[in-house]
Amino acid sequence: MRRKLIVGNWKMNGSQPEIAQLLSGLLAALPRSPFADIVVCPPFVYLALVRQLLAGSSVQTGAQNVSNEQKGAYTGEIAAEMLRDCGCNFVIVGHSERRSLYGESDSIVALKAVAALRVGLVPIICVGETLAERETDKALQVIGRQLDAIFAALDSTDLAHAIFAYEPVWAIGTGRTATPEQAQAVHAFIRQRLAGIIDVGQSKILYGGSVKTDNAASLFAQPDIDGGLVGGASLNAEEFAAICAAAE
Ligand code: PGA
Repeated sequence: MRRKLIVGNWKMNGSQPEIAQLLSGLLAALPRSPFADIVVCPPFVYLALVRQLLAGSSVQTGAQNVSNEQKGAYTGEIAAEMLRDCGCNFVIVGHSERRSLYGESDSIVALKAVAALRVGLVPIICVGETLAERETDKALQVIGRQLDAIFAALDSTDLAHAIFAYEPVWAIGTGRTATPEQAQAVHAFIRQRLAGIIDVGQSKILYGGSVKTDNAASLFAQPDIDGGLVGGASLNAEEFAAICAAAE
């Protein structure tokens, strides 16, 4: 069985005091040896603080974005090597907010995944369709296209180390979640696409989009859903801990 993974995506939220409070609440609410792997992804500027506050715990750290370049004259960008240097093990790439608000193309997302893997960071590669695409029956076509760009850039060893996250755009921050059956169908599709290239027995595919305490257990019970990428609910210690507990 694959071990579940729960990732909190804090997005552009938090301050030093708020983060200290959130993490002390989270550490108090989590069991000493959680059943799932747990990761929090703060804004870049708080990574060092978060590492410090999490010292001695099993909660790991990820970033929300990374440059596709390695180093040099790229003002405002953050390199994968810097994230490793700050104690990150994971990085989210291709989140729909990056794709839609910052114009990240399928090929840029793939290059970011490559940059992460090059330094040993695990990319959490987000894919997902908009409401209009779902309503016109194009969901699998769009996700297939997003996957093809990744498959073109990553070799099979790299692919085996990557994590995918299915995040239907219409479910992100909307309170509207994909049903377990809708999510499972897309997860099975992603796993099947991967199976053509690698042994998918250990490949993790997360679901993201309005994961909450009351829907987490039924989503995580699906055979191809290996955990969650949690936005809003990860900003509340008790709620995020309860979602982690649902991964049991
Ligand atoms: P949400 O965000 O849980 O607030 O819907 C999920 C995400 O954007 O990763």
